[in-house]
Amino acid sequence: MSRTVYVNGAYLPEEDARISIFDRGFIFGDGIYEVSAVIGGKLVDCEAHLARLERSCGEIRLALPWSKAELVAIHEELIKRNNLDEGGIYLQVSRGAADRDFAFPTDATPTLVMFTQARNMSGAAAAKTGIKVVSCEDIRWTRRDIKSVNLLAPVLAKQFAAESGAQEAWMVEDGVVTEGASSTAWIVKGKTLVSRPLSNKVLPGITRKAVLAYLGETDFKFEERTFTLDEALDAEECFITSATSLVMPVVQIDGHTIHNGAPGPTAIRLREIYLDFAKKGGALG
Ligand code: PDD
Repeated sequence: MSRTVYVNGAYLPEEDARISIFDRGFIFGDGIYEVSAVIGGKLVDCEAHLARLERSCGEIRLALPWSKAELVAIHEELIKRNNLDEGGIYLQVSRGAADRDFAFPTDATPTLVMFTQARNMSGAAAAKTGIKVVSCEDIRWTRRDIKSVNLLAPVLAKQFAAESGAQEAWMVEDGVVTEGASSTAWIVKGKTLVSRPLSNKVLPGITRKAVLAYLGETDFKFEERTFTLDEALDAEECFITSATSLVMPVVQIDGHTIHNGAPGPTAIRLREIYLDFAKKGGALG
């Protein structure tokens, strides 16, 4: 069934949606994106995603012509028009269409595209079995804190994972795991969750932030530090977080079994708590 999508002010059937071949998002990857989860027809932590969008756009000097309230309203309208109960909303803003020239155009209007993707996330089969991960070198640029639409390195990493029978790739740089190709990487040691500090080397995950926000209600502790791949292979549990996977247990890395090859209690519990918050709109207020 055809979706209703949003393009530059209009709600259209997906087959009628068009943007220019000169769009700088297409030509240069000169744009920013966000993916927000929808659970039970409700947006999850959308404000935090939009705050990250504003920050990313600021970092590439792309002035957003839409207020946060306007963007939330478009999200809500797409949920309604597509009867979306569960899945994601993809948002992409580019610097707009202009004849090809690297420097910023003076007269372009930003392009805004949004669409829904229905997906069963709360009942995902993968959450029951856990996922497999492979490692690869992190070949991305040095501003990974910006959610840029330049995704060639993650595309290659995910393809490598798919061809290896895995669902995610953990990227490694300077001997430590940076993050998943499209997720935040975590390991568990006893009652302690470990994930690396935020910097230009990783995307500041909204799901990471949500997990940390509700951690006070649990007896888990958080240690913010880098970890090596060997440490992950040795960990009691590993898991990933993202707007599409929520909290997802990892049961194998590079063919090595983690936690007896079954999802561990920590990831299972964190996923349950995350889902409880998500059904109410999120953990970030
Ligand atoms: N990816 N790190 C990277 C490189 C990501 O691409 C993502 C999300 C995350 C997790 O961020 P969040 O918790 O805010 O979703 C971490 C989205 C889901 C995507 O590209 O589809």
